[in-house]
Amino acid sequence: EKERTLAIIKPDGLFGNHSDRIKQVILDSHFNIAKETVVQLDEESAATFYAEHSSKSFFASLINYMTSGPVLVMVLEKENAVADWRHLIGPTDAREAKITDPQSIRAMCGLDLQKNCVHGSDSNKSAEREIAFFFKETSSDEAVANH
Ligand code: CMP
Repeated sequence: EKERTLAIIKPDGLFGNHSDRIKQVILDSHFNIAKETVVQLDEESAATFYAEHSSKSFFASLINYMTSGPVLVMVLEKENAVADWRHLIGPTDAREAKITDPQSIRAMCGLDLQKNCVHGSDSNKSAEREIAFFFKETSSDEAVANH
């Protein structure tokens, strides 16, 4: 059964011109890019998106990073999309990724634990919340950005 997940190419990924390469990996891995939009998050929307991390020591820095430039947001579709996308991006810490999973997207374009280039939903439940956060569901396949 087809599943959906939310992928984000973070500001460092866009600034570093990694999006074409990342999209190629996505398509080579048989995901369908169902929706996509480029958005500049403001502090409020970034804080809402990352609400579960609001008590963490790195929260302010995370919000600063995620609002430092535009992000490319995509809905990816395939069987087992959530787990397969998480596998493809590799561990959260891009420095660790370069050692343990050098083929992963974070190894390819991430820098460290915070500047890790891409995001992936961690569960089906998160995926549905995160997709609804960025996209209005419409009868057509047209992407309507909420932010
Ligand atoms: P992401 O998978 O998008 O989810 C939360 C983000 O917070 C994570 O990627 C990193 O960008 C960032 N993050 C997670 N842990 C830390 C940490 N310990 N220090 C700094 N940033 C972090």
